[in-house]
Amino acid sequence: MNYSENNTTEEIKDIDFKILQHKNIISVMDFDEKVLRTLFHSSDLIKEKMEINNSVELTNKLTIGCLFFEPSTRTMCSFQAAAYKLGGQAIVINDTKTSSVSKGESLSDTIKCLECYCDIIVLRHFEKNAMQEAIEASNIPIINAGDGDGEHPTQALLDLYTIYKEHGKINGLNITFVGDLKYGRTVHSLILLLCNNYKVNINLVCPNVFGERYLDLPSKYMEFIKEKGCNIKYYTSIDEVINETDVLYMTRIQKERLTQFTEKDLQQEYKLCLKKYHLKCAKENLIIMHPLPRVDEISTEIDNDPRAVYFKQMKYGLYVRMALLSLII
Ligand code: NCD
Repeated sequence: MNYSENNTTEEIKDIDFKILQHKNIISVMDFDEKVLRTLFHSSDLIKEKMEINNSVELTNKLTIGCLFFEPSTRTMCSFQAAAYKLGGQAIVINDTKTSSVSKGESLSDTIKCLECYCDIIVLRHFEKNAMQEAIEASNIPIINAGDGDGEHPTQALLDLYTIYKEHGKINGLNITFVGDLKYGRTVHSLILLLCNNYKVNINLVCPNVFGERYLDLPSKYMEFIKEKGCNIKYYTSIDEVINETDVLYMTRIQKERLTQFTEKDLQQEYKLCLKKYHLKCAKENLIIMHPLPRVDEISTEIDNDPRAVYFKQMKYGLYVRMALLSLII
């Protein structure tokens, strides 16, 4: 596939496999068209090899350290799997109660420990400034696997790859984000990545919760969308926008970041759920995405609709993360 929408033929040929070597992956703002082209070209090569051999051996023996201070299923397992399938290893600390963190060891010292045993550290943390602290402490690359309600760059990269694979292009698409746009870090990263590199139309579906658009996208992201010349429209229900949507990006409520409300309050207030009837007036080539985990914002009756790509998205994620690790190493 040609991953270049705005460039000349000369630039399209320009793939630089060293472009991410020894780099930290902290924000999608570091990904321009050239880096994306290299990453997705590598992801395609890995996908092809994986479909034949179910592994891709690297010449360098890679060891990654996964340091997770927040729960994770997909991100952690797919990074682990990515390392194994590249012929490498993964060291995992995901229960900080059983590591020296529980004895009071600082993030910096924990990073300095892992750096003795690993080539790359994949870090998920509940605080936004944790990534900066980790970079300062580390002599090996750090990959941000989610920093509180900030960013989740590798999820946005796999989301973008999914859109390319399913739609074959990005420019001009109507992309509708639904749910917790305030705390959803995957939404933040994908919006930044899209608007920084493409001309897309962004629709924000934010229900009224506690009498207002409480879970709306923070204004700094809204400003960014406008600054980059992308269109932005606001809705309160999926019904209003489903017929014109090319990509429907569903998200769950980040209840762990809404600690001022009880789960019961949130359930009563938040009633947005994608149901089969919505798809009656949707485009044939709509794709429905979700970073997962799903709670109850997508009815399971949709899972077998060919437009539901949220399970496929996870498989694409493995290829993109394998490509990332191999390009960094
Ligand atoms: C997301 C996350 O952790 O931000 N999950 C993921 O990594 N696939 C989304 C979420 O937890 O809602």
